[in-house]
Amino acid sequence: MKSIASSACVSAALLVICAVTEAADKPGSLKEAFKDYFLVGAAVNRSMVTGGAAFRRSAEQNAKDIALIKEQFNQISPENDLKWQLIHPREGVDGYDFGPADAFVNFGLSNNMALVGHTLVWHSQTPNWVFAGTNPPPTNATSVAAANTNSPATNRFGRGGFGGGFGRYNGPRASRDELLQRMVEHIYTVVGRYKGKVKVWDVVNEALADDQGTNVLRNSLWLEIIGPEFIAKAFQYAHDADPGAILRYNDYGLENSAKRKKLITLIKSLQAQKVPVHAIGSQAHVNVSMTFETLDQALAEIAALGLPIHITELDVNSAAGGQRGFGADISANASATQGGLVNDADKKLADAYAGIFRAFVKHRDSVKMVTFWGVNDAVSWRAAGKPLLFDGNDQPKASFGAVIAEAKNATPSK
Ligand code: XIL
Repeated sequence: MKSIASSACVSAALLVICAVTEAADKPGSLKEAFKDYFLVGAAVNRSMVTGGAAFRRSAEQNAKDIALIKEQFNQISPENDLKWQLIHPREGVDGYDFGPADAFVNFGLSNNMALVGHTLVWHSQTPNWVFAGTNPPPTNATSVAAANTNSPATNRFGRGGFGGGFGRYNGPRASRDELLQRMVEHIYTVVGRYKGKVKVWDVVNEALADDQGTNVLRNSLWLEIIGPEFIAKAFQYAHDADPGAILRYNDYGLENSAKRKKLITLIKSLQAQKVPVHAIGSQAHVNVSMTFETLDQALAEIAALGLPIHITELDVNSAAGGQRGFGADISANASATQGGLVNDADKKLADAYAGIFRAFVKHRDSVKMVTFWGVNDAVSWRAAGKPLLFDGNDQPKASFGAVIAEAKNATPSK
């Protein structure tokens, strides 16, 4: 088909038809299909931005992955390399490893892609030295929050016992001032280094509690040592470091109404304090039972906060074990990808993706960015759940066609 079209190109009169035929032969690109609605991005790993040896990928596969990124996406997020543990593993001004993050930024800029910085303050993937000091750890969190005279009347966000941690540091702790000092130094250094290049930051990641109780915030060392205002402080420091950057609050499970209520409480409280929070990041690590209706309602309620919505880590788990809950805590993720795939996984995935993108397009006045958490099933953090649009050979799956179809079905923007 293609070769016939190409040979027809020798005739100048047929050039237009030839171009149309060539275009129709291509499956299309996500960035092109949704260009009137939102940016479409992917999380990229270190091998993809350095071109070096790849984890779980041969050099040829990695090269194909890179070509696919350039073809499909106009935005990238670093899957790990801007996390505290990776960029700032040791204390002190010499404790930074900027190389991989610099490679991420250079790759994005040289390919005209919008860059997201992920993430500044998180309870996970943060080295122990950040929280370490000379103060003995408390016997329980409740008494510390109550006794903390530096956070008057603010511990409504922090009641309750320990949530159980993942690699949680248990030794002697930094003081509140020490931890704030480390936070501001880290944020000024990292945001300052990429000022004007990384235009969007996940400032605080996953601070909301998952439990059914009244706690708004999860127990974390940030909360216990600084108090609930660690969130406002982080945003203020990031804003000082780059007043032009779009600052996001990012979390998972916002499709669940109980968790979403906590988000709304938190964001309204930040807005009332005039904290510079500019966008809501909804990770959207969902599963194949996700529907248009659920997402439609979630997006409508989040949009009522008056901020743009960025879908920050989209993937749709089709592993049988992933259908149980709405969580995406990295410590719980292993169990979410167990149990083989659900029946008829390819079709269920395509149907779920169709509903999900129908909701994004419907809410296009709010949804300004959609980022997939990975490029293909082979490199996904939930590889066993085959959650993305491309298979391990970078070939489009049925879900890719379903997503592109939603762009075509949409009524044109005004
Ligand atoms: C994941 C990465 O994909 C993995 O490579 C890493 O081992 C753990 O973290 N929420 C987030 C992301 O905000 O940073 C997590 O990324 C997935 C859940």
